[in-house]
Amino acid sequence: MASSSSFPLLPVALLALLVSLQGAIASVPSPLQDFCVADLNSSVLVNGFACKNPANVSADDFFKAAMLDKPRDTTTNKVGSNVTLINVMEIPGLNTLGISIVRVDYAPLGLNPPHTHPRATELFTVVEGTLYAGFVTSNPENKLFSKVLNKGDVFVFPKGLVHFQFNLNPHKPAFAISSLSSQNPGIITIANAVFRSNPPIADDLLAKAFQVDKKIIDLLQA
Ligand SMILES: *[C@@H]1O[C@H](CO)[C@@H](O)[C@H](O)[C@H]1NC(C)=O
Ligand SMILES: *[C@@H]1O[C@H](CO)[C@@H](O)[C@H](O)[C@H]1NC(C)=O
Ligand SMILES: *[C@@H]1O[C@H](CO)[C@@H](O)[C@H](O)[C@H]1NC(C)=O
Repeated sequence: MASSSSFPLLPVALLALLVSLQGAIASVPSPLQDFCVADLNSSVLVNGFACKNPANVSADDFFKAAMLDKPRDTTTNKVGSNVTLINVMEIPGLNTLGISIVRVDYAPLGLNPPHTHPRATELFTVVEGTLYAGFVTSNPENKLFSKVLNKGDVFVFPKGLVHFQFNLNPHKPAFAISSLSSQNPGIITIANAVFRSNPPIADDLLAKAFQVDKKIIDLLQA
């Protein structure tokens, strides 16, 4: 009895295995060798970059000299933040490894405006200051998860979800370091994508989408 009832479990287990394998393939695949340092000059087009000849790989392929220790200029843009991303273009050794790093600087009351990383979950760590951070889930709930974060606090922005951070201190700058689960996370800033596409999305179309007057859209696009 026990053996006959356990028999149908085998295909179920196989199915579960296949499903979990497919899940793995949908993300960055496990490396099949120690590394595949990006040959950024290769004319071979693959998902990511072709591997450099391992004989020509050196420690410098896995290295970026002091870049994240310096505060960035947050005064030359209107939102008061500056993002320094180190991805596979900066460190070719990141190719196929599914990780990158970013520093974000905030002016007093500076905002890193709502944006998404289409290919990465973000693990955000406050190094200096106090930030209000949040992300919004997909339709239909569009639920906001937000927190006030202090020095040393860590917050997660799940892959693809719209998120933001705001420096609550009106007198002091802040900065944070994040790791991202992609060699090339991509950044889509919502306002830019919607109101500053090239060529622009027709204003009557956006007026309909946002249920506002066309003049407001023209103002936003300007
Ligand atoms: C790629 O080409 C540029 C010049 O076109 C050269 O300076 C650079 O060293 C090359 N990089 C690699 C990894 O071969
Ligand atoms: C890579 O190394 C091989 C020898 O191992 C050499 O023939 C080739 O020129 C090198 N390529 C580059 C781009 O340095
Ligand atoms: C970020 O800071 C660097 C220098 O610190 C500056 O060259 C760059 O223009 C700044 N970027 C923005 C978007 O303000």
